[in-house]
Amino acid sequence: MLTTLVSLVSLFLIPLRSYAAPSATSSAAPNPGATSTASLNSLAQSIGKAYFGSATDNPEFTDAAYLAILSDNAMFGQITPANAWKWDATEPEQGVFTFTQADQVAALAQGNGQLIRGHNCVWHQQLPTWVSSGNFTAAELTDIMTTHCTTILEHFKGDTCEWRLIAFDIVNEPFNDDGTFTSDVFFNTLGSSYIGTVLTAARAADPSTHLYINEFNLEFAGVKSTAMANLVSSLKSAGTPLDGIGFESHLIVGQVPTDFQQQLESFTALGVEVAVTELDIRMTLPVTDALLAQQQADYQSVVSACKAVSGCVGVTIWDYTDKFSWIPGAFAGQGAACPWDDNLVKKPAFDGIVAGLQS
Ligand code: XIL
Repeated sequence: MLTTLVSLVSLFLIPLRSYAAPSATSSAAPNPGATSTASLNSLAQSIGKAYFGSATDNPEFTDAAYLAILSDNAMFGQITPANAWKWDATEPEQGVFTFTQADQVAALAQGNGQLIRGHNCVWHQQLPTWVSSGNFTAAELTDIMTTHCTTILEHFKGDTCEWRLIAFDIVNEPFNDDGTFTSDVFFNTLGSSYIGTVLTAARAADPSTHLYINEFNLEFAGVKSTAMANLVSSLKSAGTPLDGIGFESHLIVGQVPTDFQQQLESFTALGVEVAVTELDIRMTLPVTDALLAQQQADYQSVVSACKAVSGCVGVTIWDYTDKFSWIPGAFAGQGAACPWDDNLVKKPAFDGIVAGLQS
């Protein structure tokens, strides 16, 4: 039954970007290892952050060695479901909500005493075709969108769960890199007002979780981050509930933006908190010692940017091990983006994170 469910769910997980299944391609790669024995979440909390966390995905739970490291709440105080809470997994047919996979992640976090960042309500990817191709009127789509988000938030809100849903990516990736709104079914049918509508519905459904808009390529100044800043300002001045901006931070070794910290600060100055929500730092394979050393420095600089900004509440890595990273499937020829290698051995990047939290 579970196997059938898993294969059914994975059918719905075929995304619009051509992501293939992650593969362990670099198991023979060099790894001089890490020297620090620190625990990342304990360290993050000791400097006033709410958590240091990791994304995870249900198929990985059968890997006992993986699960043991993930479940150590001194190492990871927070979990993000990488796929299980997305629209295609939770409402594959209109009005038919399936929480089996989603509940599995929630139960894991609860059992481990870990926070959850909900991910996500409204996104143009991993969106069932019944939504994207339904030719709905504005009124119908508004109802569909608010029903989806309200149902998800009510299912998981603190009132009904013992663990704490600290934040939720209500809107994911609303912008193109040129600063225009993504031309998806929500924007095309409702205009940019869909963002305020769904944030308002989310607040009504769960008054306590922090409501986020999550986006990539905000880590450097440019038209996209300006567009996001303008959106934040206009939502704030309209009194729309919005608590935070998520900086995904899918970065490249040797190319971490030097203005990352200023970017975080430019958003906290607008009256929102920020979080590094999906950190990984990929390289063009093969792995070399030099690339691992640069990756260590890069992880340190990202984490120290968050450390330096009091409104940056936490850092989440987009899974902790190269064994289950989404990168090789999404970016051909690239990988080794996580702080643990394919064999669940800490890389120099781990020491970089520790140094970033300490420096
Ligand atoms: C990725 C997952 O990690 C993959 O398993 C899936 O195939 C595609 O989505 N930005 C996001 C995340 O907001 O939801 C994406 O997660 C990575 C990019």
